[in-house]
Amino acid sequence: MPSTIDEIRTALETRLTAARDAQDVRSAQIEYLGKKGTVTALLKQISGVAEDQRRQFGEQVNALKQWAAQAIEQRLSNLSFTTRRYDIDFSLPGQLMPAGKKHILTQVEEEVESVFLSMGFDIEEGPEIEQEYYNFEALNIPADHPARDMQDTFYLAPGMLLRTHTSPIQVRTMKRENPPIRMIATGRCYRRDAVDASHTPVFTQVEGLVIDKDITFADLKGVLQEFVRGVFGSSTNVKLLPSFFPFVEPGAETAISCPICGGKGCPTCKNSGWIEMGGSGMVHQNVLQEVGYDPSIYQGFAFGWGIERIAMIKYGIRDIRMFYDNDLDFLGQF
Ligand code: PHE
Repeated sequence: MPSTIDEIRTALETRLTAARDAQDVRSAQIEYLGKKGTVTALLKQISGVAEDQRRQFGEQVNALKQWAAQAIEQRLSNLSFTTRRYDIDFSLPGQLMPAGKKHILTQVEEEVESVFLSMGFDIEEGPEIEQEYYNFEALNIPADHPARDMQDTFYLAPGMLLRTHTSPIQVRTMKRENPPIRMIATGRCYRRDAVDASHTPVFTQVEGLVIDKDITFADLKGVLQEFVRGVFGSSTNVKLLPSFFPFVEPGAETAISCPICGGKGCPTCKNSGWIEMGGSGMVHQNVLQEVGYDPSIYQGFAFGWGIERIAMIKYGIRDIRMFYDNDLDFLGQF
């Protein structure tokens, strides 16, 4: 008999130590102290034990019962403090969260901004949902002008659209401020273009505008030269080719000497040594008049380039869609 009592005690002890939660302890309690429990069964046996051993056996069984009740209580109160001890292993290494990064287009925008900030330019902003007036009319593009075909537009409501370029920010800035003006603005633009390796319906531009007395085409070229040297390296050159945009006169397409081959000719510049980057020109008199500036006193230049294009040339990215695919392996490289 004594060995049975000891065995029961040991078994219950092991059972309680292994219990993971109160539920485990409660079921042990029923097994040992419940109506049909192991200890209860022993208590019932007391009266049947031979008289000379009954007293000793009774004392042992009662002691076991008391011990069991107390051990169960003890275990329950321990568990309520330490339930989680079994769920958390503090020695395991933590889960590493990959560090976030700025998108490559944001990085290039910031790089462009820092080059212009160093030349004393201000940074302006404008809305992506824009009035037709700022996007077209004020830029010398009336409703019936064929130049509207150059920029297939997402119209939202009568008179409202998603801006097709950052040039409306020129108009907003000139209407708000007086010359001299030296500003750039970067931001998203929208056009109803079919998606291919060099077109996406959403893209990013950097717009520049300088207005003052005695501003010439040479100032435009000098500022662009400084800009591309800051972004692509000190041996990069700028070339201006005649082009047309209704809000500039004269207007120019701007090309840079290929930073990949240094102008010798390679696949990126299609063996021409030059890469076209975007539009530029001297601000049209009609635009100056529209914002209330006197063209006989003030002149200026403007340019609008694609940020994706700058990033593609700088980093050798072949397909514009990659900027918008959200492939972390691709984006993580920059
Ligand atoms: N806004 C023109 C475009 O998106 C680019 C440009 C800007 C041209 C400023 C001339 C001057 O095509």
